Amino acid sequence: MLSNPSQLILRNSELFESKNVLLLNFESDLLAKELLHSAKQVTALALDFNHYQQLASHESASLSVYFGHNLPVEAKFDAVILFYPKSKSLAPYLINLAGLHLKSGGELFVVGENKGGVRSIAKQLPDYFDSASKLDNARHCLLFGTELINTAPAIKLEDWVSQYTLSTPQGEITICNLVGVFSEKRLDEGTKLLLEHLPALHGKVLDFGCGAGIISAAMLKLQPTLDIDCVDINAMALASCRLTLAANGMTANVYPSDGIGQAQGVFDGIISNPPFHDGLQSTTNIAAQFVQDSAKKLKPSGKWRIVANRHLPYSELIAKQFKTVNVIAENNKYKVYSNS
Ligand SMILES: C[S@@+](CC[C@H](N)C(=O)[O-])C[C@H]1O[C@@H](n2cnc3c(N)ncnc32)[C@H](O)[C@@H]1O
Repeated sequence: MLSNPSQLILRNSELFESKNVLLLNFESDLLAKELLHSAKQVTALALDFNHYQQLASHESASLSVYFGHNLPVEAKFDAVILFYPKSKSLAPYLINLAGLHLKSGGELFVVGENKGGVRSIAKQLPDYFDSASKLDNARHCLLFGTELINTAPAIKLEDWVSQYTLSTPQGEITICNLVGVFSEKRLDEGTKLLLEHLPALHGKVLDFGCGAGIISAAMLKLQPTLDIDCVDINAMALASCRLTLAANGMTANVYPSDGIGQAQGVFDGIISNPPFHDGLQSTTNIAAQFVQDSAKKLKPSGKWRIVANRHLPYSELIAKQFKTVNVIAENNKYKVYSNS
């Protein structure tokens, strides 16, 4: 089943006839494969690891699939199809990336949900693109088109980072937060409460949904010998986390995972401010799955600690997996849950 934006692209597939096309920030479906009925060659870059995994097994001589915050090849394309991101602040970065990978005069198509911010694309286009025109409107989505008229500037990640210093109970750390990553300008209140109640840790620790790496940097500040795995589904988050660690002279294993499915090994500690959004939708499914799976990834004496919005129904889930629920701290918005 194709997503609504993908359906809108597919009904305009004649636009991509015999072209070498880049799909940027594609969705969780097989549009890239469908497009091969008209396009000559499709390359697809996912910023979401789940979306990458959906498509990766369909790679072929005419379909290349990548995950990351940029394309690891220097290719130029006849057309780029950009899926307007859920996080509006990521849009200018993706537009720049699209410009870099277009041939001179190449076409940019931007598709997105009516409600998602794509409406204002004309105002968001930099001067290396021509003005945008609306090409289609269906399935609650809009499709715009424009052309590259000048050379797009090279991307320096530093230009897309908010860097700030944070005082934590573990000491002062520097945070590097790329556009579109959680807690872009300031520390999340839930993360703050969790940092105030971190357990004493040792050995191998998992930071699930690491975002910009705030929790890992704080843990390493206090205990530099911890062996931390930082996982996240989002490529910009993983890039941010690497920048944060480097800015503090710290090291950890940073890699993509959808849930904790790809987390490697078993852990002496699992620490998280788990997600409660999937795209624009609020959901407890990801955190519920995480609670269930993390019980299996924790050593018998391991420490497990998460923070969650106090109105979300985690107590029962946690009790089911860990036999006991300890709320070790709370305020009017959040609770910190622990297995011991
Ligand atoms: C609430 S934020 C916490 C970020 C960071 N740990 C902090 O405290 O600032 C949750 C993070 O989980 C990530 N995430 C969302 N869904 C995920 C999934 N299915 N698997 C792994 N990470 C996910 C998001 O990209 C986001 O960075």
